[in-house]
Amino acid sequence: MSNPVLNIGICGFGTVGQGVWKHLSANRARLESRLGVRLNLARAAVRDLRRPRDVRIPGRLLTDDALSIARDPSIQIVCELMGGTKAARQVTLTALRAGKVVVSANKALICEHGAEIMAAARRHGGHFFFEASVAGGIPIIKALREGLVANRFPRIYGILNGTCNYILTRMKEQNAPYAEVLADAKRLGYAEADESLDVDGWDTAHKAAVLAWLAHGVWVRTDQMIVEGISRLTPADIRNAATLGFGIKLLAVITRDFRRDELSVRVHPTLLPAGNVIANVNGVFNAISVSGDVVGTTLYSGRGAGRDATASAVISDIADAASLLRHGKGAHLLGEEPVGPSRCRLAPPESIRGRYYVRLTVKDQPGVLARVASEMARHRVSIATVIQGPADRPRAASLVLTTHESDERAIGHTLRRLRSLATVLEEPVLLRIGDFAS
Ligand code: NAP
Ligand code: HSE
Repeated sequence: MSNPVLNIGICGFGTVGQGVWKHLSANRARLESRLGVRLNLARAAVRDLRRPRDVRIPGRLLTDDALSIARDPSIQIVCELMGGTKAARQVTLTALRAGKVVVSANKALICEHGAEIMAAARRHGGHFFFEASVAGGIPIIKALREGLVANRFPRIYGILNGTCNYILTRMKEQNAPYAEVLADAKRLGYAEADESLDVDGWDTAHKAAVLAWLAHGVWVRTDQMIVEGISRLTPADIRNAATLGFGIKLLAVITRDFRRDELSVRVHPTLLPAGNVIANVNGVFNAISVSGDVVGTTLYSGRGAGRDATASAVISDIADAASLLRHGKGAHLLGEEPVGPSRCRLAPPESIRGRYYVRLTVKDQPGVLARVASEMARHRVSIATVIQGPADRPRAASLVLTTHESDERAIGHTLRRLRSLATVLEEPVLLRIGDFAS
């Protein structure tokens, strides 16, 4: 008896969609023999049918109507690789309501509509796989859901955005101008169509929400997180951090205090000790440290963006989907539920503790440092180190302070006061110090 045919529809034929088509075509025979099915790349959807493509595809397989793929009764696996949340949501829900498997790389969609999507899959017998939505080619969803199923997770942190890590690396190593590096990240297919999602931290926040849901069973909205990006960082911050013995990385930090039952999800540029492994993960690479109460700390690293790495993750979901459709639910060991379906409250700002780096551009005149120190003391923020140097404007100085341990409420009050001083000339820069040994 010949193996059954599974028809695959690819909605979105851009960076990721073309990568999936290319690598699935190249590896089809090997995958088919392992999975015991025939994988047929049936159709693909784009917005503009006339746009030239790097990967060749017969014109008759292309459509500009993505919904027609979601509705096509002959297609069992729909890959949503379009991005955005409006048309993507419609395609995803339509396919799930028809009982299909949807494979998605769309973290913005999952963050915004995850609860609705998972409910639709459950209600209509569809399935939703999303390995490519977090950390590009790193199989972090599988690791959390399957490999680490024995664990609860007090801390998950890491670099989840390839574009920002690429920019920070080139700023540090080549002193390259921000705009030039961002343009390169776009050309290389790392950045989102709207690159502010990357540089302002939202893409990392979307991915953090997905990981927090998997690990803790709670959907955390981005407006419930601290979300700060890299666009205000200057080469001076990178140099100051190095002088203090740190590297700067844009991190997602997800911590759960099981005693108080508090969860915190935040995204911000972070000073990591120079010896920390993640501080040394560079370029487009992502890295994630997952601490489990049974396993201890585990570390994952790999390319976090780009055509090939992301295609690898999408194809892994297609293989899981094929196995599920071929062999039934039993083959899909742990289902699609989160690891830790439990209730917990979000940590209030005074529970989020740490050390801080503050850079101020101030008037270069007597008494300014004393005034800054007294404002910090008023809010019980204790100064650990001070570096004073020239600022890049006349009659001004740059003050870089690090603090002893404080909390988000106290540092927030302090910053508001400092901002209001006439001697503080620019918006202060606040960075968190991540005292993570591993
Ligand atoms: P992209 O290069 O901009 O490609 C998007 C594709 O979707 C294009 O082919 C576009 O058509 C098509 N499209 C958009 N809206 C459509 C609509 N309404 N109907 C039909 N086709 C539509 O984006 P990408 O980088 O491949 O990213 C796709 C998704 O993967 C996003 O959710 C992104 O966040 C995610 N992701 C990307 C990466 C990465 O490294 N790039 C990594 C992980 C996850 P046209 O070509 O005709 O405009
Ligand atoms: N724009 C994203 C990044 C793509 O740079 O990480 C991968 O999700």
